[in-house]
Amino acid sequence: MHVAMIGTGYVGLVSGACFADFGHTVVCVDKDERKIQALRQGIMPIYEPGLEDLVDRNVRQGRLSFSTELSPAVENADAVFIAVGTPSRRGDGHADLSYVYAATREIAAKCKGFTVVVTKSTVPVGTGDQVESISREVAPDAEISVVSNPEFLREGAAIEDFKRPDRIVIGTDDERARAVMTELYRPLFINSSPLLFTSRRTSELIKYAANAFLATKITFINELADLCERVGANVQDVSRGIGLDNRIGSKFLHAGPGYGGSCFPKDTLALTRTAQEAGAPLRIVETVVGVNDARKTAMARKVVNALGGNVKGATVALLGLTFKPNTDDMRDAPSIAIVNSLLDKGAKIRAYDPEGVHEARKVLPEEVFYAENAYDCAKDADVLVIVTEWDAFRALDFGLLKTTLKQPIVVDLRNVYRPQDMEALGFTYESVGRPNLVH
Ligand code: UDX
Repeated sequence: MHVAMIGTGYVGLVSGACFADFGHTVVCVDKDERKIQALRQGIMPIYEPGLEDLVDRNVRQGRLSFSTELSPAVENADAVFIAVGTPSRRGDGHADLSYVYAATREIAAKCKGFTVVVTKSTVPVGTGDQVESISREVAPDAEISVVSNPEFLREGAAIEDFKRPDRIVIGTDDERARAVMTELYRPLFINSSPLLFTSRRTSELIKYAANAFLATKITFINELADLCERVGANVQDVSRGIGLDNRIGSKFLHAGPGYGGSCFPKDTLALTRTAQEAGAPLRIVETVVGVNDARKTAMARKVVNALGGNVKGATVALLGLTFKPNTDDMRDAPSIAIVNSLLDKGAKIRAYDPEGVHEARKVLPEEVFYAENAYDCAKDADVLVIVTEWDAFRALDFGLLKTTLKQPIVVDLRNVYRPQDMEALGFTYESVGRPNLVH
């Protein structure tokens, strides 16, 4: 099959490279000339484990190419994927669909023969209908079938998720489009990944429902963590105790500083807006959005409390800035709210992140000092805070840290370490939803 992937952001690039790896011929198109030039030289615009090798292999074997020109790619394509951004619209929290509609116009004008136009970007219910009517308006005679095929890729594990998905959701009522989509995903049948065919609107909603449910699960356990702290219970054991019930499941029950990233915050907010306008408000999701926002700043208070209620003039060392490990993505990362709040309270910030510093510099205030590694970060700091659970922070040398820190205080927002171990090492240790040891 011939595929045109419009947009070489996170989703477009990973999906394009994976489809090429399945044996399809893929052209990834982007308006950003610099990005395309870089990709042609094998330079990735994002950090994602395994992506560079995947791209390199498929480019060398002639199945994957990059272009700023949409028309040749679209003219030859059996399927054109729209994988452009759908950021939160300023002011109202709705998804901004201007990039999707602009791409639709260009695609419709260039299509030749029967073409499946697939919305891969996360788009609100009914967007497929709009894409269809815009296409018809631009090219009344074109044979275009619009399909919804949401992505469920986790950053840091995106290639694995694409190649071994729990399910593939395809929203279409059109038999011809169904056949094309089945052919595209055929290599996954050997992994027996189920293909779920639904109506287009249902498919669009599934994506939002999945993200909102996962965000709810995280927020639920985060609030329980607060309760655990008050009543002297252990949230990790609560997670395990409820997660072993198959009806609940153990995943996404890890308490932490609140969810961030490019999907959950934006998608939960957009879903609440859609639901309000449809006259069926999702009050649970509305609450989740509010609780999660408040949580990020509450994490700064945890640090302040660990220092006895005042951080004015104190130096706080933060380990991990990205919203999760194995990515350089800083979008809606809890670290942003934590840094801003601590700076407001008069603290000085030293920070270290294995991959995220370049992106962090764009969104964090200038006053932040970026260290070379975890130990340099801890130098003369009053408290060490683990914000993101990178592997590099899972086996820290606390003997060395003790000599580097001004005082042995650790706030672990990801529950990487065990309270009893930290206490034995002579640290004052605070984590999330786990009681301090009673003497
Ligand atoms: C998510 C969805 O998982 C994916 O299916 C969708 O397509 C895009 O959004 P991603 O944003 O890459 O993927 O990260 P994910 O691993 O889901 O984590 C999201 C956030 O939740 C992170 O901030 C993470 O730290 C947090 N999280 C996750 C928790 O705090 N606790 C958990 O138990 C799981």
